[in-house]
Amino acid sequence: MKKFAIIGANSFQNRLILKAKEKGYETHVFAWECGDIGEKTADCFYPISIVEKEQILEKCKEIGIDGIASIASDLAVITVNYVAENLGLTCNSYEDSYICTNKHAMREAFEKAGVPVPKYIKASCVPTENALKDFCYPLIVKPTDRSGSRGITKVEGYGELHEAVERAVAQSFEKCAVIEEFIEGEEYSCECVSYNGKHHFLALTKKYTTGAPNFIETGHRQPSDIPEEYKRGIIEQIFMALTALNIKNGASHSEFRLNSKGEARIIEIGARMGGDCIGSDLVYLSTGVDFVGAVVDIACGNTPDLSPRHEPQNAVIRFIFTEDDIAELEKIKSDKSKIIHYISDMDISNIGKITDSSNRVGYYIYTE
Ligand SMILES: Nc1ncnc2c1ncn2[C@@H]1O[C@H](COP(=O)(O)OP(=O)(O)O)[C@@H](O)[C@H]1O
Ligand SMILES: [Mg+2]
Repeated sequence: MKKFAIIGANSFQNRLILKAKEKGYETHVFAWECGDIGEKTADCFYPISIVEKEQILEKCKEIGIDGIASIASDLAVITVNYVAENLGLTCNSYEDSYICTNKHAMREAFEKAGVPVPKYIKASCVPTENALKDFCYPLIVKPTDRSGSRGITKVEGYGELHEAVERAVAQSFEKCAVIEEFIEGEEYSCECVSYNGKHHFLALTKKYTTGAPNFIETGHRQPSDIPEEYKRGIIEQIFMALTALNIKNGASHSEFRLNSKGEARIIEIGARMGGDCIGSDLVYLSTGVDFVGAVVDIACGNTPDLSPRHEPQNAVIRFIFTEDDIAELEKIKSDKSKIIHYISDMDISNIGKITDSSNRVGYYIYTE
């Protein structure tokens, strides 16, 4: 029987576990043991933390895996590429994991390849006013190596910078922040899949956030509301950026803002599916393309089948932070034009706070 390894066992990764099983693979799942669903759905579960890449490599060698993947975690992607590269499996290069997961290194890679970037600088403490004399405010300050909107602040003037840098550095694993000019425009992402260096466009996603100062994501919708005439240019720009990061195989999630000329200005790219069910659920619901299946195929060196399995439709995920969000869910439940596909478990003991995405009490997915 063919064997497939999956890094991570939470509910997002579970989609991948179930898909690999559906495709006839024996699943071998690696994650810190904490009661996650994948611990039970996996054929074999190994309680090894996803960052223990050498240990996971040894085990995968022993098992004789045919492919390895993960859905939406940057940390897991590093291990996936390390193991896959060492075993001669289809993947992106381990060396390039750094430019795909460090926001400062990514900016440098884009700049080198001629992909437009805002002015940016790396800092472990607040720079002098002089060091920023060419920068136009507002600025964004963020940790170089975190996700989920942790430690991000928009600053309007030099006086606000000190606190923002401290906040970002405190969140950063490597204790560094990127300070960059604020990119104006509505927020979107582009979901793609690459195979043997060729990129395939799947969907554009509209992102909803709380806005300044912290930009906490509140939901996503596919297809986006981007006018048709801008799409070609946007996709070209995204493909150029994927190539700049040496992304050759597997899913990618490119976050960008659309400027007033209809051009994409990239915020960051993940060499993996978009989290929050964007990759695992919304792409399939909105386009009919089996994105998760394609990731399994590619990881095993097989040409993915990207043909749609059903008609396109609008697909939405909304996150619940407040009582108002619960009221909105009730409204959607009673709306005959909408079909709810999933409502997560909810812990409403802490409802009402929005400081970063960890304050979510739950989420739901619907189509219309
Ligand atoms: N240079 C920028 N200009 C405008 N908004 C930004 C910029 N950088 C980050 N943001 C905002 O902050 C959010 C999170 O930043 P991002 O770099 O994607 O970090 P994370 O890894 O936490 O998602 C973005 O989705 C966007 O709303
Ligand atoms: Mg992001």
